[in-house]
Amino acid sequence: MGPAASRSIVILTGAGISAESGLPTFRDNGGLWEQHRVEDVATPEAFRRNPELVQRFYNERRRRLGDVSPNAAHHALVALEQGWPGPLLLVTQNVDDLHARVGSRNLIPMHGELLKARCLACGAVSTWMDDILPESRCPHCDLQRQLRPHIVWFGEMPLEMNRIFAALENCGLFVAIGTSGTVYPAAGFVNAVPPGTRTIEINLEFPESNTRFVEQRRGSATERVPELVSELLK
Ligand code: APR
Repeated sequence: MGPAASRSIVILTGAGISAESGLPTFRDNGGLWEQHRVEDVATPEAFRRNPELVQRFYNERRRRLGDVSPNAAHHALVALEQGWPGPLLLVTQNVDDLHARVGSRNLIPMHGELLKARCLACGAVSTWMDDILPESRCPHCDLQRQLRPHIVWFGEMPLEMNRIFAALENCGLFVAIGTSGTVYPAAGFVNAVPPGTRTIEINLEFPESNTRFVEQRRGSATERVPELVSELLK
């Protein structure tokens, strides 16, 4: 691995990094998939079958963003991006705006964003802070009843996969934070890094299944992420 690769970092975050900010995860006790069935609110079929139910699910989650703030883990990742001498790419599975709010720049929200709406008629993706309602108009083509959440649903292709895999295939360090590693393609990213890449996973607890990560750091994101960042920037 060349010197540049050994200095490049890819970070993957999941719902666990936003848990201490007060946003529910999906698969922990009390998580979102305990209150809703994926097939009712997070698939293209669900949206065709019952768009009001799907819009309500995302409208509620979008509204909650106003009540939460980024935590020490989000802030630590910005410090790492600013202080690290080589390239750093932050890929998040989360659709909250907490990484964006603290100023992470090289950021790919691979599952879309709650604060964006996509027009089914013209394809435009627009910033959208409020509820998406049937009478909401696309800011680009002005049509009503054409806006969907800019969220990647199950069965849809995550965003910017080429850019993500190009970074994975050239990184010297891959860190996964607060993700259950159950949803692909993100769960397979650790298999895409070059042999010899340092791989670290940070999680509150680890599933029994044997891990593909070289290092496991058990603990909360707000403890373990600042700790790792200060080690890396030393
Ligand atoms: N600190 C660190 N890790 C935590 C914390 C915390 N404070 N709280 C929870 N976790 C861990 C849990 O142990 C779990 O492994 O975060 C992980 C959350 O897992 P999921 O709820 O499955 O969330 P995620 O892995 O992001 O889900 C991936 O699945 O439903 C789809 O599109 C959705 O992006 C989501 C994808």
